[in-house]
Amino acid sequence: MLKVSSPGRINIIGDHTDYNAGFVLPASINKGITVSIQKNNHPSHCKIYAKNVDEYFEFNLEDFRPIPSGWPNYIMGVVAELQKLGASLSGFEASFHGNVPIGSGMSSSAALECSFALSLNELFQLNFDRITLVKAAQMAEHHFAGMKCGIMDQFASLMGRAGKVMLLDCRSLDYQFFPIELGQYELLLLNTKVTHSLADSAYNKRRQECEKGVQIIQQTYPEVQQLRDVNILMLNECLQNETPLIYERCFHVVTENQRVLDACKALQHNDLPHLGQLLYASHESLSKAYEVSCPELDFLVDYTKHLESVLGARMMGGGFGGCTINLLKKEYANEFIEQISKAYYNQFQIHLEAYPVDIANGASVLENQTI
Ligand code: GLA
Repeated sequence: MLKVSSPGRINIIGDHTDYNAGFVLPASINKGITVSIQKNNHPSHCKIYAKNVDEYFEFNLEDFRPIPSGWPNYIMGVVAELQKLGASLSGFEASFHGNVPIGSGMSSSAALECSFALSLNELFQLNFDRITLVKAAQMAEHHFAGMKCGIMDQFASLMGRAGKVMLLDCRSLDYQFFPIELGQYELLLLNTKVTHSLADSAYNKRRQECEKGVQIIQQTYPEVQQLRDVNILMLNECLQNETPLIYERCFHVVTENQRVLDACKALQHNDLPHLGQLLYASHESLSKAYEVSCPELDFLVDYTKHLESVLGARMMGGGFGGCTINLLKKEYANEFIEQISKAYYNQFQIHLEAYPVDIANGASVLENQTI
């Protein structure tokens, strides 16, 4: 039996920048998905058990396609992408379980894709390197789940390192680790426990809006390939008066890229108040210019603004629900959670969940008794 585990991720800052070839600052966490897998001596029959939901799914390697929705798509998607790369697979049996809250913006889907990408790579000795697995997992999500995600989540899940955040250049895929030393502060996630159903379609729409912006800018600056190549002056010149909505979307991406780089400097100089300000600025931009927040996320971020114990907060990930990430003084954490939970319940009648963040290693093989 082979056992592989792959984590979810947080993102300190840099949302909706990855698919614009920009910068992100994620880290893998100590919540993830663990797969147990073995060959079953059948040429093509596969059977998978999802423990958390007590569901089985079976498919045949020679003939399978996406189902309308659900967890099997992430796994079949990975299988299909590996086959496209020339992997020769045979039947297998697997079961998996996890503790990444679904729809929380902590990337349970990437954890699932990456846990299968790595376990199939090991089980069938495919010898793909990790970056190839990252890309296969990302494409699985495009082709089988219909979500045209960027590369951040899969990259963090397979490449993360304990105690470090990763500055990833989503164009070159160059990455650099930064130690994150928060002293008397800590990172805390607050889960709104809402997932608004328009999330996937709105995500793909934002992506199109960014591409539209690039097309317009290219009429003046043909060398521009993605929003990564654009600065504010170019935005002002080409979009501001023509298409205010597209301008707002692109404005978020261009300024968010700069905030990621500024956040790295703040971390290097241990300037946590500045990091906190950048988190608030990121939220403001995601909420007002990019319009991917929701009342629940806005409430949680706004609530922290008058608290001295909190340096910064923002929504994290794709948006329309999920978690906020908060930078707060450790000694006030309990009091803070109690207060904000009460206020949130009074407003929305929802019990939020709070998770302290523990930055752990990326995907790994836990046990291998197949060879
Ligand atoms: C989702 C996607 C990522 C990224 C974030 C927003 O998590 O999977 O690729 O685009 O949203 O930053």
